[in-house]
Amino acid sequence: MAETNKRPFQIQAINRRFVPFDSEKEKEWKGSFFFVQGADCQPGLTYQWSGKIRKTYTPDAPINWDVEIEATRAIIKKLNEMEPKPKFFIVCGDIVDAYDFEEPFRTRQEKDIKEVLAELDPSIPLVCVCGNHDVGDEPTRSSIQRYVDNFGDDYFDFYCSGVHCIVLNSQFYAHSANVEDLKSQHEQWLDRVLKDHSAKHTIIFQHIPWFLRTYDEDKDYFNIEINTRLQMLEKFHSSGVKKIFCGHYHRNAGGSYKSMEQIVTSAIGLQLGVDKSGVRLVRVTEDDIEHQYFATDDIPANFL
Ligand SMILES: [Fe+2]
Repeated sequence: MAETNKRPFQIQAINRRFVPFDSEKEKEWKGSFFFVQGADCQPGLTYQWSGKIRKTYTPDAPINWDVEIEATRAIIKKLNEMEPKPKFFIVCGDIVDAYDFEEPFRTRQEKDIKEVLAELDPSIPLVCVCGNHDVGDEPTRSSIQRYVDNFGDDYFDFYCSGVHCIVLNSQFYAHSANVEDLKSQHEQWLDRVLKDHSAKHTIIFQHIPWFLRTYDEDKDYFNIEINTRLQMLEKFHSSGVKKIFCGHYHRNAGGSYKSMEQIVTSAIGLQLGVDKSGVRLVRVTEDDIEHQYFATDDIPANFL
């Protein structure tokens, strides 16, 4: 069978910057555009899921993740066919399912998902955001470094056509006991980048949502503890952030904190609700940011 222009996966977030976008040139507003947001490819979860909890990987089980690889491939094929192309495709975490100690599955999942992500048209930059499975539920220096080595920096910011995009490592807000120094560097960096109010819009991307429906809801597995949540939401709102895009929930959800909207996007991989595998298309105009979730088959060829 003929090989079709296979190219290797390339890390794009290095030294807290996103290589494909020139940080100075992209500060200027150049007119409306759209991008695509997805989350939770999470190859392996379908097989591991037994109804309510994720099983532990057992070395001799006949585990495979073809279903998630094919779901990711189907979306990439649709995005490659779009005209005009999206400005970027951002995957908001849980790019893999196996934790770094779940070998050999983690290594195989990294290889397989990178291979399919590399099928994205080279004119569409891929932005990777780290999830709890990518850096670990209780991240350590080495579990974060493993993610950085495979997918790029765990947090960074970039400008795209006048819009400031800030990518967070949300796991620091879930469990930071092993990496307090790294979390404090993350907070110092975040405070610095939030000071820039020159952009047309400021958007945040992260894996774990602060909340699922209402900003004062109780803590559960899928959101962040309420005191940290309220403190961070207020910080973002007072810094002029308009939207926060997340994943992790494997269902579409979201709500508002004051005038700021938080959007939770369902999974590319396993669904835990009634949604179908898909992505969110986000149209950015001078005055607004509109978004709509599409199941893979329904992704339109033109979205502008
Ligand atoms: Fe997750």
